[in-house]
Amino acid sequence: MKIGVILGSIREGRAGESVANWVMEATTGREAATYELIDLKEFNVPLLESSVVPGAANKQYDDENVTKWSQAIDACDAYILVTPEYNHSVPGGMKNAFDSLGSEWAGKPIAFVAYGAAGGTRSVEHWRTIVANFSMYDLRNQIDLNLFTEFGENGVQPNERRAGELEGILGELETITAQLNK
Ligand SMILES: Cc1cc2nc3c(=O)[nH]c(=O)nc-3n(C[C@H](O)[C@H](O)[C@H](O)COP(=O)(O)O)c2cc1C
Repeated sequence: MKIGVILGSIREGRAGESVANWVMEATTGREAATYELIDLKEFNVPLLESSVVPGAANKQYDDENVTKWSQAIDACDAYILVTPEYNHSVPGGMKNAFDSLGSEWAGKPIAFVAYGAAGGTRSVEHWRTIVANFSMYDLRNQIDLNLFTEFGENGVQPNERRAGELEGILGELETITAQLNK
């Protein structure tokens, strides 16, 4: 079982990098799944301009970067999306990258680790309605890191209860993914 940890911010100096690293560190030694960091910034996914609707593209894309993004996402059985909140919603770059693919996402579980002034909760609520279009299984439990109290100069400094919360989410994601792939 392979679970992709998607780093959904592409900004220079993004806070999300430390959050994704924290998630990846927590996966060390877990035996039920292999975790891979998928950094959206490395893919340079172009703005969606294709005349073919990605949901009908059958994983065939004209653009080389979209093809690489497609292959990375398709190779995973489930995802943890590390997402900021931009203007009370999802980050546009990641939304474009989500929109740029189709069946690669379909029917797979997804969990959210968000961060923002209000923990990124509004971003996650919007993501839930978006991923529903590909019949994804979104975990109810999520992490909402507070930008004011859980970040320092070197990035995220999660409060005490977060390690346990994250462990719970990893376990739940592994369980549901195993059940779906039986
Ligand atoms: C375009 C933009 C809009 C933002 N809007 C919100 C917002 O609505 N709510 C919030 O909590 N933070 C908001 N922020 C602040 C971000 O939470 C903060 O900049 C965070 O570091 C963004 O994550 P990143 O650095 O990984 O991109 C916004 C930041 C940007 C760049």
